[in-house]
Amino acid sequence: MKYEKYYKLIKEQSEIFDKSQNCKIGQTWNYHLLPVIKNACLLADKYGADKDIVEIAALFHDYADLIDFDNRDNHHIIGANLAEEILAKDGYDMDFINRVKLCINNHRASVVREKFSIEEICVADADALSHLDSFVELICWRAYLGEDIMSCNNFVKNKIQKSYNKMSKETKEYSKEKFDSIMRVLL
Ligand SMILES: [Fe+2]
Ligand SMILES: [Fe+2]
Repeated sequence: MKYEKYYKLIKEQSEIFDKSQNCKIGQTWNYHLLPVIKNACLLADKYGADKDIVEIAALFHDYADLIDFDNRDNHHIIGANLAEEILAKDGYDMDFINRVKLCINNHRASVVREKFSIEEICVADADALSHLDSFVELICWRAYLGEDIMSCNNFVKNKIQKSYNKMSKETKEYSKEKFDSIMRVLL
């Protein structure tokens, strides 16, 4: 695997994060990070984006959260800077690094999309798509936090709707059937 070193780093850090959050080990990797990486690569192929930029940005997009959940509010900015440090040490050129950083910086944004590069759109859309893929895990997570059934339902319904709203027009079309199916089964 081309970026095995980064897969190992992020997987290990996500397991440390799971432990700190009292989650089952592997939960964040299996139900968030892997779906984001998988969807990001799939969209990169579909939209003709630079797959190396997209794959590395998807790997690092929530890295700052995994290191310290207190980074949550600024995890896109801190994560971009952490990725820069690692990639610079590994000898990547600044143009490549800056393109990865833009994807990480903008993975949460749902505005100024028309100014985004295709790589940024792939990562932001993949992050949103992962919530559709992992909606069962989202319900379980809210239940684990102690919420009653209707609160879990409403939280997830709201999250899925917001994630869908955030996607580009093309990715909305691509995931419409899945989105409609999930919204139908939620109460
Ligand atoms: Fe994030
Ligand atoms: Fe994420």
